[in-house]
Amino acid sequence: MNIVTDINSWVQFRKSVQNKTIGFIPTMGNLHAGHLSLCRRARGKNDITVVSIFINPYQFDQAEDFKQYQLAQDLTQDQTLLESAGIDVLFLPTAEMLYQDNYEFQIIETAESTILEGAHRPGHFTGVLTIVLKLCNLIMPTRAYFGEKDYQQYLLVKKMVQALFLPIEIIACKTVRDSDGLAYSSRNTRLTLEERKQAALFAEILRSGQNALQVEKILLQLGFAVEYVADCWGRRLAAIKLGNVRLIDNIEIK
Ligand code: PAJ
Repeated sequence: MNIVTDINSWVQFRKSVQNKTIGFIPTMGNLHAGHLSLCRRARGKNDITVVSIFINPYQFDQAEDFKQYQLAQDLTQDQTLLESAGIDVLFLPTAEMLYQDNYEFQIIETAESTILEGAHRPGHFTGVLTIVLKLCNLIMPTRAYFGEKDYQQYLLVKKMVQALFLPIEIIACKTVRDSDGLAYSSRNTRLTLEERKQAALFAEILRSGQNALQVEKILLQLGFAVEYVADCWGRRLAAIKLGNVRLIDNIEIK
């Protein structure tokens, strides 16, 4: 695996693979089975697979959350996982490289980004869309892979690519879950043993076939701090907090 840590080297490499298809998976690292499933999808379809790891400061609405991401970063472990997943290039930019404009340019979506996650995390999607656009402009992938775990993010990225005429195919990948049903998330490692057990109930209740209001009521009774449970885009989406840890999940409504 080729590790690229500066933009010039990437641009040079990109020029040398003009006629190849490139599959791109943007991540914030602390990789798990969910990320690796995106890697597998990309590998199966493209000549070259590129993963980026960058903890984007501007998409965090809580300084503590950003700090926890930085503390948990384990590049050696991520590198080993990506190597065994057969990834060709790991792109590891810094904030200085990506934000030479000091975040003076931002991508603002004014509709779907204002509800659910957007309503609870001010500025989050502006941060996400801005970094995804910057990364896509650098990587120039044929296809980019996003998890349904972050369904609203996937929808907004897809919408941005259409609105701005980016020549990139956005591929949605199914949510990967642990054996007890909890969706893999980098934040799961912050849960205590007790909280981790309880977190499985979040996924279970969400899928229990009751209406959104009932789901919210049961989650509250079980002691979860519920931010929202809502039906939208043919899915049921929810965000809860367990202790200090915020978790999101969603399922397709049949
Ligand atoms: P991160 O949370 O690291 O997620 C990277 C990609 O992995 C996202 O597309 C996310 O939806 C997907 N993913 C996470 N958990 C998953 C799971 N359990 N099953 C399937 N896919 C999963 O999302 C981000 O980073 C950032 O916002 C980013 C797009 C990189 C922009 O900074």
